[in-house]
Amino acid sequence: MTRAVVTGGAGFIGSSLVDALVERGDEVVVLDDLSTGYEDNVNPAATLVEGDVADPEAVARAVAGADLVFHLAAHRAVLRSVEHPLQTDRANTAGTLTVLEAARDAGAHRVVCTSSSSVYGGAAPMPTPESAPLSPRSPYAVSKLAGEHYARVFWELYGLPTVSIRPFNVYGPRQRPDSQYAAVIPLFIDALRRGEPPVVHGDGGQSRDFAYIDDAVAAFLAAASAPVGACAGKAYNVAGGSPVSLLELLSALEAIMGKAVVPVHTDPRPGDVRHSRADLSAAAADLGWAPLVGLEEGLRRTVAWFSERAGAGIA
Ligand SMILES: NC(=O)c1ccc[n+]([C@@H]2O[C@H](COP(=O)([O-])OP(=O)(O)OC[C@H]3O[C@@H](n4cnc5c(N)ncnc54)[C@H](O)[C@@H]3O)[C@@H](O)[C@H]2O)c1
Repeated sequence: MTRAVVTGGAGFIGSSLVDALVERGDEVVVLDDLSTGYEDNVNPAATLVEGDVADPEAVARAVAGADLVFHLAAHRAVLRSVEHPLQTDRANTAGTLTVLEAARDAGAHRVVCTSSSSVYGGAAPMPTPESAPLSPRSPYAVSKLAGEHYARVFWELYGLPTVSIRPFNVYGPRQRPDSQYAAVIPLFIDALRRGEPPVVHGDGGQSRDFAYIDDAVAAFLAAASAPVGACAGKAYNVAGGSPVSLLELLSALEAIMGKAVVPVHTDPRPGDVRHSRADLSAAAADLGWAPLVGLEEGLRRTVAWFSERAGAGIA
């Protein structure tokens, strides 16, 4: 039986990955400090180890005997990293290095690390291939790029097969609107449900290449099983493949939810990129992965999850 460790497995993306691993019969250990994750996200068939990903002892305990390590634990909010760069660096850069060392020492067969599209910094050609110049513009993005380099170096120096994923904006069930640094899709859905005007930063013409959670999970699984020679030491874009502007996104949600709203426009957020669009050809060629869930279908499923939560009395 494959033993898989998922750091950040109580979070939005990690917990869905855990479900998929349990479903296919893996023995799964989750390492999470529950700082932005939730215990009730964790599949009951998985073992939850509460601990900090930058704590070598906790990580070594969790990773002992692992065949596969999926490293998703991170401080994921760009704004938080601007406010607390050292905290973000400790969790993200030192955290990634700690996981890589533990995985190497445990003899893991593969480590899939989680980078971010923010490493491009908005200066790239569109659609953006992985070979585009990297220009991280926040402490978060710097920490993600540092993690990618550590992953590559662990392959080159120690022969530990590593792959990094660069997710663009991921959305879907379990992504919550109530955190201080919530993402745009849960915020829009929550506002529409409450009949409140959603907040749009700037003119709403900025576009994003949203990836549905099931497609993101499939990319992590593909990165764990693709031939080592094709992907070790490399990083891959993961996105939905059909970018939309925030105003188009809002219209799509209005149509699905049968509501009409007038958004409130605020100042653009400093450092926000105008357009974001992934070239997905490398992930298709090397990992055999491509997104399958279109935006409208993904939004429908996400709206349905919000309704189920409300039906179960969860705000
Ligand atoms: N959601 C997106 O659109 C997106 C885009 C690009 C990259 N990512 C990356 O994907 C990964 C997962 O993001 P998510 O959206 O699921 O966020 P999330 O906040 O829901 O998940 C992160 C998880 O990591 C845990 N964690 C944080 N710091 C930790 C620490 N020091 N030790 C142990 N656990 C810790 C949190 O409790 C949480 O469960 C992150 O690495 C993030 O940077 C996400």
